[in-house]
Amino acid sequence: MLEIRNLHARIAEDGTEIIRGLNLTVKAGEVAAIMGPNGSGKSTLSYILAGKEDYEVTEGDILYNGESILEMDPAERAAAGIFLAFQYPMEIPGVATMEFLKVAMNAQRKARGEEELKIPDLLKRVRGAADSLGMDMNMLKRPLNVGFSGGEKKRAEILQMKLLEPKLCVLDETDSGLDIDALKIVADGVNTLRSPDRAIVVITHYQRLLEYIVPDSVHVLYRGQVVRSGDKNLALELEKNGYAGVIGEMA
Ligand SMILES: Nc1ncnc2c1ncn2[C@@H]1O[C@H](COP(=O)(O)OP(=O)(O)O)[C@@H](O)[C@H]1O
Ligand SMILES: [Mg+2]
Repeated sequence: MLEIRNLHARIAEDGTEIIRGLNLTVKAGEVAAIMGPNGSGKSTLSYILAGKEDYEVTEGDILYNGESILEMDPAERAAAGIFLAFQYPMEIPGVATMEFLKVAMNAQRKARGEEELKIPDLLKRVRGAADSLGMDMNMLKRPLNVGFSGGEKKRAEILQMKLLEPKLCVLDETDSGLDIDALKIVADGVNTLRSPDRAIVVITHYQRLLEYIVPDSVHVLYRGQVVRSGDKNLALELEKNGYAGVIGEMA
């Protein structure tokens, strides 16, 4: 579903190379974890997948279902079923969360050639998803993410993901800022999204989240490259020995 081949990317503004020959394949149905110390390029990778303009791909390719997405803008990528939950979700003042969800869901449906949702149907779906995440419907009257706590922002991201039914989900540090109960709710949300026709990429630098979201594969990112891949045991090994062991092998 996702194939990243020898990707090189730099910051557009000053030309600093951050991603340096990254290779990664994630199959449909798979949950892949990307781990790595701070500053290794994890968030940058997620921004590049989303199509953020601050970064320039200088070499390599990103294939989604066999086709390059490099020429697609962020809206086209979203319409194609790529969803990113950011480490620091954007605040959207003046737009009630509910309104945002309505617009996003209908845009997604339009891209799939489906009709707009009628209000009662929309409300039913949103209520169902919000309930499952322990979110109060009253919160959805508030502008998206404005004044939300860290945990509330993450729940709002998972809520969007549940409602938009993307095919490729990328979650950047979904665990940061969450207490243990919120972490479990978010992990359950991700687990219910597991499906044979969906790939999920979970970016985290702690093993903790992976106790609740058990990955099929684990990839260690360091200095803009995947330096080691393995199964869930690799995450346990990292937890025990730290990154030094894996990174040391690089030298
Ligand atoms: N827009 C930017 N301007 C300057 N430096 C950046 C920018 N984006 C990323 N970096 C740098 O790139 C490196 C990787 O950052 P990041 O992708 O956030 O790492 P991670 O998410 O793994 O902690 C860091 O050294 C960071 O300072
Ligand atoms: Mg990051």
